Amino acid sequence: MFYSDEIIEEVRSRSDIVDVVSGYLSLQKKGNNYWACCPFHNEDTPSFSVSSAKQMFHCFGCGVSGNVYTFLMKYENYSFPEAVKVLAQRCGVKLPEAEYTEEQKKLVNRKQRLLDLNREAARFFYYQLRSPRGKVGMEYLKKRELSEETMKKFGLGFADMGGQELVRYLRSKGFEDELIHEAGLAVMSEKRGLVSQFWNRVMFPIQDINGKVIGFGGRVMGDGEPKYLNSPETPVFDKRRNLFGMNFARTARTGNLILCEGYMDVISMHQAGFTQAVASLGTAFTPEQARLIKRYTDKVLLAYDSDGAGVKAAIRGIGILREAGLTGKIIHMEPYKDPDEFIKNLGPEEFQKRIDEAENSFFFEIRILERNFDLTDPDGKTKFHREIAKKLLVFTEEVERENYLQAIAAKYFVSPDNLRSLVASYAAQEGGVKPAERPKTVTHQKETPDDKAKRSQRVLLTWLTDYPTLYQKIRKILSPEDFTDELYRKVAEKLFQNIEKGNANPASIISMFDDDKTQNAAAEVFNTALPYISTLQEREQAFHDVLLAVKRNSFEQRRAVLAQEKDGFSRFLQAKKELEDLAKTFISLEEG
Ligand code: GTP
Ligand code: MN
Repeated sequence: MFYSDEIIEEVRSRSDIVDVVSGYLSLQKKGNNYWACCPFHNEDTPSFSVSSAKQMFHCFGCGVSGNVYTFLMKYENYSFPEAVKVLAQRCGVKLPEAEYTEEQKKLVNRKQRLLDLNREAARFFYYQLRSPRGKVGMEYLKKRELSEETMKKFGLGFADMGGQELVRYLRSKGFEDELIHEAGLAVMSEKRGLVSQFWNRVMFPIQDINGKVIGFGGRVMGDGEPKYLNSPETPVFDKRRNLFGMNFARTARTGNLILCEGYMDVISMHQAGFTQAVASLGTAFTPEQARLIKRYTDKVLLAYDSDGAGVKAAIRGIGILREAGLTGKIIHMEPYKDPDEFIKNLGPEEFQKRIDEAENSFFFEIRILERNFDLTDPDGKTKFHREIAKKLLVFTEEVERENYLQAIAAKYFVSPDNLRSLVASYAAQEGGVKPAERPKTVTHQKETPDDKAKRSQRVLLTWLTDYPTLYQKIRKILSPEDFTDELYRKVAEKLFQNIEKGNANPASIISMFDDDKTQNAAAEVFNTALPYISTLQEREQAFHDVLLAVKRNSFEQRRAVLAQEKDGFSRFLQAKKELEDLAKTFISLEEG
């Protein structure tokens, strides 16, 4: 852990979760909680709740939950220490530097060194492009009609034929060979030692949203292979979580974002005034990138190549956007291949028209689908209609699905009633109209005895968190050792300590754990759905049942151990007696 538990708790307790979350989502107060549509899955009716009392969030749709740190880690893709840092700054707590271990310091340091090195390299390429040795590159970029201003804005550069200068330059700036190698800028050659990885290429520095150079893409001059060479992933270069051009696009304020395939597309779009253009980094578009986009806008226009590969990539992209709760539209570039060519030939005004006429992504999908069927043949037609019906299932909201159904029916001359009954029959087959990714809490897989034991332990912990006064009534009966799951035992220990001190404070317990998997599992403990119960009597029964289940499981686990101990048998009898007594004991849930 980077920081002490005390500091982590201080920052957390000073950062009100309702306050922090409302910086991202518009929360509505209803009852004791605040509500919004969940930012972590796609939905139209709010099932994401934030509890001021618990200082936790929980989504009843997809099951995510956590405290203010977990929220930032999920929403902003922060690591735990990053989330602590951001919140500390927000609430004015000064973090001690010294809390880093040597190893962590080294990593932070190395990341910083890599960024420094990348910036130096970008500077080197930049000057090369403008030197006599960069003449080929400069001519190339001019031929592609980039202005000096655009080249400057994107920091374009050039790596020439020689391979030594860059390495020499970086060494002269104090960077070790190992780091130069790690940054992916140079490779070991047996004959010549460390030589530049990039040569004879126009260089595109890839920046993160803060404008830090995290990697490079290089386009070969002429017809060499590969056409584009990208830096490998490094500790600062994560291709899944960054987008080329995002550092500019984030402030474009156009209310949408244009996703392109290539760096050149992004650059010529920006030059033409479309500063909301971004591209993925030589790899396919990812869900992480979709989430990055979602921080800024929920409307994405796809400007992918009009060829077969581009269409395929667009179909894939639409799915990812939809999963992330973003709306996608398709910009048509015909008769040109990509935005770069389009703008060069028809200019920005025509491109703006194409933006305005962008096709709804669902219509696009259906139109592409249509190509696979022979609609002059009745069989082909039927098959096509069946596929449409299946596709309509992605819309979980009745109204939306119906709207699409009618629009599609009109467009393809199908009777809406027939289409509706097809949809209904597929919905029944697939177990209802639900998103492909179903929340864990509603899938009824077979529960193993172990799962069952864990569930009782979770439910009991939720009970005690929601009604801490209950703890006083059972403190003599229940101890952390009764929680046979290791994580739950730790949580129970801490929770009981907190309650003794007067505040259950579940949110503080989550941040005791430092990896996000464990944090998620711990958060889940406090948000297990308690059975819906109206009468006090039923509540008492339910609580008693779960307490007994936990004790019984603990007894079962211990009996094997006890059997091997010296006075094991008498302790076994004792425990058994206690359990039988508990089964007969009435625990009143009434206050006091
Ligand atoms: P230009 O010919 O320069 O106009 O290229 P383009 O912008 O039309 O790019 P293209 O459609 O060929 O490729 C789109 C994107 O895919 C590029 O920006 C690169 O990120 C990536 N890409 C293209 N070719 C390669 C390659 O050979 N290797 C890798 N790794 N990525 C490539
Ligand atoms: Mn191109």
